[in-house]
Amino acid sequence: MKKELRLGVIGCTSRGTLADNAHKPEDGVRIVAGADIYPDARELFLKRYEEKFQCKPNVYEDYREMIEKENLDGVFVTAPDFLHEEMGVFALEHKVPVYMEKPLAITLAGADRVLEAAYRNRTKLVVGHNMRYMDFTRKMKQLIDAGEIGEVKTIWCRHFICYGGDAYFKDWHAAERYANTLLLQKGAHDIDVIHWLANGFSSRVHGMGNLTVYDKLPRRDVSQKRIPYTKVAAWSDANWPPEKTGGYYPEIEVNDLNMIQMTLDNGVLACYLQCHYAPDSCRNYTVIGTKGRLENHGGSEIQLWNNRECKYRILGDNTYRMPTTVGGHGGADPRIVQSFVDALRGEYDVWSTPQAACYSVAAGCAGADSMRQGNCPIDIPRLPDYLENFDFARATEKENI
Ligand SMILES: NC(=O)c1ccc[n+]([C@@H]2O[C@H](COP(=O)([O-])OP(=O)(O)OC[C@H]3O[C@@H](n4cnc5c(N)ncnc54)[C@H](O)[C@@H]3O)[C@@H](O)[C@H]2O)c1
Repeated sequence: MKKELRLGVIGCTSRGTLADNAHKPEDGVRIVAGADIYPDARELFLKRYEEKFQCKPNVYEDYREMIEKENLDGVFVTAPDFLHEEMGVFALEHKVPVYMEKPLAITLAGADRVLEAAYRNRTKLVVGHNMRYMDFTRKMKQLIDAGEIGEVKTIWCRHFICYGGDAYFKDWHAAERYANTLLLQKGAHDIDVIHWLANGFSSRVHGMGNLTVYDKLPRRDVSQKRIPYTKVAAWSDANWPPEKTGGYYPEIEVNDLNMIQMTLDNGVLACYLQCHYAPDSCRNYTVIGTKGRLENHGGSEIQLWNNRECKYRILGDNTYRMPTTVGGHGGADPRIVQSFVDALRGEYDVWSTPQAACYSVAAGCAGADSMRQGNCPIDIPRLPDYLENFDFARATEKENI
């Protein structure tokens, strides 16, 4: 008989819906509580659970009270980025296992603090790098590991974001103190995927970027805000082109165009290019090895070229089509949530690691710092051995104690 798991969620709406994937009373997993500072968010959460699951979790304004009172077996941290460090450390200090949304923190020191808290308290930590759970990234990783393109030498990621104005410049994402940089906020995923596909971590980063569009557009009235980082945006394809739009966050500080180059510790050279006002949306990774080239077209198709032919070929020598999936982010959300639940039960198949999440924060922060400091290269420190070698998904296992 499996132990019933009592789970909580901090940040109940928006990304907080991720936690719904865990609620399976038939499998002995329940979301028993949620914490959110906004009364309307708590109401929406209760309504959602009543309609979807016919149950009524306990709700709290203060997440600390929830952690102290609820005797939780795990908690999802799905609040905005700048709160991750504080909330994660608090839960881990109370020995409550954490599913932490990406980015792990908005500074490298903050990310280190979360890792230290998990290590010191021997408490499980899983970071929400759900892109590792997508079919197309898995397939690219499989093809690379099978040697289909030889030894990987370089990875280039172009990231087009058509909804940048809606998602990132109308609320807290636009202010440095809440997000630090969109290179990290959004690019944490891609930097992680690049590290994963290349089988290495950035050791040196330099970047170029600028605020090129959104700082010139009309802002919204500050007096309409509840508190400074309130979410107000609605996504619409009608919000186009950017110059015809308005209602932006009063503080527009983060770059809408980011480009970084990374030297990885295994010699792979990579770059990540992010634009927040493209008319289309795609994360397009090209991986070049000594025997071929791989490229994804969205989440549905991968092309692989491994024969030489001196002309541009849209189709590769092999095409791999991804299956249709169910669930958020191409099926990645239910999978990563299940791997957290499995880790809580001592069944381990977690494909992201807090160490990798930490190096993704390091590279994102270094890229932004490089841009702030005249595009100079910034070296990334290694984690100490005791953190580098710790298995965070098995934190409570004997060999770790
Ligand atoms: N992995 C992914 O694919 C993915 C997708 C979207 C968002 N995210 C991450 O999820 C997190 C939340 O993003 P979002 O867009 O949903 O943000 P949001 O601004 O909508 O906030 C999410 C929830 O947190 C609540 N909240 C805000 N301050 C709080 C506090 N002090 N205490 C408790 N609750 C609080 C909000 O009321 C809201 O219910 C971010 O870290 C983001 O990077 C990840």
